[in-house]
Amino acid sequence: MDKKELVKEAIKVRNNAFVPYSHFKVGAALLTKDGKVFVGANMESASYGLTLCAERNCIFGAYAHGVRKDDIIAFAVVADTNGPVSPCGACRQIIAEYINSNTPIYLANLKGEIAEYKISDLIPYFFDGSEL
Ligand code: THU
Repeated sequence: MDKKELVKEAIKVRNNAFVPYSHFKVGAALLTKDGKVFVGANMESASYGLTLCAERNCIFGAYAHGVRKDDIIAFAVVADTNGPVSPCGACRQIIAEYINSNTPIYLANLKGEIAEYKISDLIPYFFDGSEL
C-alpha cells in the first residue's frame, strides 16, 4: 500500500468522526509491515476536555491489537485544512512514544496535498520517559 492509499483509508474513517461541537473531522490510519491497516477518528464529548484525537484513537487501537513500534511502517493523518493537517502537541508526544522516529508520517488534506515528516522533526527533544 502506498501513501495515497493509506491517506485514502484515513479519509474514509474521517467520515466516522463524532464531532458535534467542533465539526472538525480528523482521520488517521496506520500501516503495519504485514499490510494491516488500523484507523481512528476524533471523538468529542460535551465535556470538551474528554475529546480524543484521531491520531491517539488510531495508535491506541492498534496497540490494543498487539501492534508495536517495530511493526509500524507508516502513519497518515488527514483533515479538511488549507495545507496538510498539523497534529496537536499531545498527539505528537504520543506519536513520538509509540512510533519509531524514522517512520514516515504523512500529513494530508482533502485537496490531495500530502506532506511527509518524521516525528523527530515534529517534536524535537520530546519527553521520552527515560528519567522515570
Ligand atoms: N483533533 C484531532 O483529532 N487531532 C489533532 O491533531 C488536532 C485536533 C480534533 C480534536 C477535536 O475533536 C477537533 O479536532 C477540534 O480540536
